[in-house]
Amino acid sequence: MNKFRRIGVLTSGGDAPGMNACVRSVVLSALAKGVEVVGIYKGYSGLIGNEVKVLTPADVNGKIDDSGTLLYSDRCPEFKTEEGMAKAIATCKELGIDGIVAIGGDGTFRGATDLSIRGIPTIGIPGTIDNDITSTDYSIGFDTAMNTTMRMIDNLRDTCESHARCDVIEAMGRNAGWIALECGLATGAVAIAIGEVEFDADAAIERIKTLRAEGQRSFIVVVSETFGAEFSEGFAKRIEDETGVETKFARFAHIVRGGSPTLRDRLTATLMGKYAVDLLLDGKSDLVVCEKNSKITSTEIKFALIVDRMFKNKLNDGDLDNFTADEIELMKKICAEKQAMFDEYMSTARLMAQH
Ligand code: ADP
Ligand code: F6P
Repeated sequence: MNKFRRIGVLTSGGDAPGMNACVRSVVLSALAKGVEVVGIYKGYSGLIGNEVKVLTPADVNGKIDDSGTLLYSDRCPEFKTEEGMAKAIATCKELGIDGIVAIGGDGTFRGATDLSIRGIPTIGIPGTIDNDITSTDYSIGFDTAMNTTMRMIDNLRDTCESHARCDVIEAMGRNAGWIALECGLATGAVAIAIGEVEFDADAAIERIKTLRAEGQRSFIVVVSETFGAEFSEGFAKRIEDETGVETKFARFAHIVRGGSPTLRDRLTATLMGKYAVDLLLDGKSDLVVCEKNSKITSTEIKFALIVDRMFKNKLNDGDLDNFTADEIELMKKICAEKQAMFDEYMSTARLMAQH
């Protein structure tokens, strides 16, 4: 017999369009199996502070197209302390929360592991516009943020073309260049600067000079947030100084984190929410839901966190000690495939920018 009577759901870390669709899916999927869902407010803070509410279909239906998160989000450093963790576990016991679905990024998944090993089975769902979770091909919010970024770049292109200007755009993504790369490709950028592939600033300048000499009026350059404000604004100035093309700078920032989720995000959120509930009720714990080759699946959080560090060159001594040779090989394969995708997209972008 199903031991679950009541589960919790929370959103944590940076919000992402589609989180509400995911919360809705968790609630409706659990209710369909006779399990009650409590919404935990403000991420892990709500667990510590006992800020929860039983969610009914009326609370979540009609929210599938809303952005932000109806459960609110928070960064909660206290949750990383033993004292904070003890309070969170006490809340779960007091309220009869038998398991949790936690929607967020890497930090959120670390918290999910901490809960799981203390007896509260927890399943993570990737929700971040950056799509920077290496274990999954896709994270909720990415498509919406990219479409917003793309449309705004299109608008800038219109005015650049009228005035024969260049625009350097800083795209969101603290540790990942996906938004910059895909949006650069989709808007015909003359140059794209991301952390994952070496950026040749001189070549970009030369390309703009050549294309201007051939008669091209407008230029779009997309720079990932990874490079920092000083670089992007400085690069805009350098383009103007060295090419003679009047160049503006734009930073889109958090505006791309809002807005009604696209079909892709609503759909993925709905599928992942249901999948997470199925995993929990099936007795699983300490897993993160992933999308691999268009299929919803899951992986162990400890694997997901380490493969992520491997891809970002942030492995610490001993990180691989508890993994088998096969698991390490699989991690390397995942990283190589990610890198190959970055390289392929970038070489296509460079080809497209030649004329
Ligand atoms: P994201 O989930 O988007 O990566 P954060 O890194 O801010 O965002 O993490 C979200 C929350 O997860 C933090 O505010 C904290 O409550 C919890 N968290 C982060 N790191 C840890 C950790 N090492 N152990 C336990 N909980 C953590
Ligand atoms: O991780 C998502 C993200 O929007 C990044 O693209 C950005 O660097 C960061 O969060 C901003 O975080 P905050 O909302 O704390 O300013």
